[in-house]
Amino acid sequence: MNLLSAKNLSHTFDYELFSNISLDLESGESIAIIGVSGSGKSTLLHILSTLLKPNKGSVSLFGEDVSKMQKKRLAEIKRNEIGLVFQSHYLFKGFTSFENLEVAAILSNQEVDSALLKRLNIDGTIHQKVTELSGGQQQRVSIARVLTKKPRLLFVDEPTGNLDKTTAHEVMDIFFEYLKEYNAGMVLVTHDEALAYKCSKVYKLFNKELVKVD
Ligand SMILES: Nc1ncnc2c1ncn2[C@@H]1O[C@H](COP(=O)(O)OP(=O)(O)OP(=O)(O)O)[C@@H](O)[C@H]1O
Ligand SMILES: [Mg+2]
Repeated sequence: MNLLSAKNLSHTFDYELFSNISLDLESGESIAIIGVSGSGKSTLLHILSTLLKPNKGSVSLFGEDVSKMQKKRLAEIKRNEIGLVFQSHYLFKGFTSFENLEVAAILSNQEVDSALLKRLNIDGTIHQKVTELSGGQQQRVSIARVLTKKPRLLFVDEPTGNLDKTTAHEVMDIFFEYLKEYNAGMVLVTHDEALAYKCSKVYKLFNKELVKVD
């Protein structure tokens, strides 16, 4: 099943970041996007995940054109079907990790998955305030929060930036297991080429174009 189809996307802030980018993602598939800092990877991810409107082109999610969707439908998709993991995570700071996960669980009608907490090695610190955790622990809580929703489509921007290499690969393996188990799809932005090559396809944002890398 097609989860995401982007056609002829162009975007300009102070200068043109990219033009004519097209991309398709099927269930079970993962796509990595690499490219130098400032090339527009996060911007592209924001467009693909409906947070930003492209200057030109269109994005369809699950076969529906985002620009033609009713507001209610888009909100529903954002809440239940899309999981976002960004460069900076937005955990509720006054809450414990568990409370952060409970919010996600309630909003999406799911349950906090204790096996996932164990896999991410945050089960021991789950009742501590978020501010008492290390950067890497907070990052793993934010990943747990996103997966708690059981989204069909994941958008992930440098999810392992605060993690050491071993933990980074372990965390990525959790994403890949998730994709398999739920037949979900993922668009991953990363500077880490070793992580990128774990994905089904690798693209590079280069000279304003998205070029397939083999
Ligand atoms: N909201 C915005 N308004 C104006 N310019 C922006 C905005 N967001 C991003 N930019 C500019 O667009 C360019 C690309 O930014 P973007 O964050 O997409 O790059 P990136 O490839 O993700 O970089 P990095 O690898 O450092 O995260 C940068 O020059 C940035 O300053
Ligand atoms: Mg970025």
